[in-house]
Amino acid sequence: MELMEAITQRRSIRKYQDRPVSDDVVRELMDAVMWSPSWANTQCWEVIQVKDPAKREQLQQTISKGNPATKAIVSAPALFVICARLKSSGYYNEKVTTKFGDWFMFDLGIACQSLCLAAQDKGLGSVIVGLFDHDAAGKVIGLPGGHEVVAMVPMGYPAQDVKAPKRRPPEEFMRVDSF
Ligand SMILES: Cc1cc2nc3c(=O)[nH]c(=O)nc-3n(C[C@H](O)[C@H](O)[C@H](O)COP(=O)(O)O)c2cc1C
Repeated sequence: MELMEAITQRRSIRKYQDRPVSDDVVRELMDAVMWSPSWANTQCWEVIQVKDPAKREQLQQTISKGNPATKAIVSAPALFVICARLKSSGYYNEKVTTKFGDWFMFDLGIACQSLCLAAQDKGLGSVIVGLFDHDAAGKVIGLPGGHEVVAMVPMGYPAQDVKAPKRRPPEEFMRVDSF
């Protein structure tokens, strides 16, 4: 698949076929995460694939009411919890280097996009899930200190066609020389 095709055709997919995602495919998806850019190559991501159905249910209970991805946390053939190691991205000698402090959200955003585009390339549909109780989710997966859960990404072979939500055109957001 061409990169621009993957970028433009990727949609958030929340319903999946009853077809497993093999460990080989998962390994290739992790390669995509591995090659993501990060602050000074700090690679502060940690990825937990949750297979245990009981843990899946507990994670689903952390999802905020009304979140359209609620069912996907349990029904998706593959579920990844994307975590960050704190105080590395954006730091030099244990001190923040910019006004933005810890850049883990930025690096994990890129890693999630790599993961979702690689999934798209493999014919998988995925959705980045950010609206849930992160501390409660951390307890479910045994998150150690100095880390945060940032997102969950359920995925599987799509069982739905989704219309692309409207985008702001470049003419609206891109300017030359000044804001
Ligand atoms: C940081 C982030 C958090 C998101 N959180 C959720 C979520 O909690 N639940 C959900 O159903 N979709 C979530 N989404 C998916 C967005 O709703 C979706 O990307 C957006 O509507 C554009 O649609 P598209 O991905 O199909 O292009 C999230 C996306 C991002 C990037």
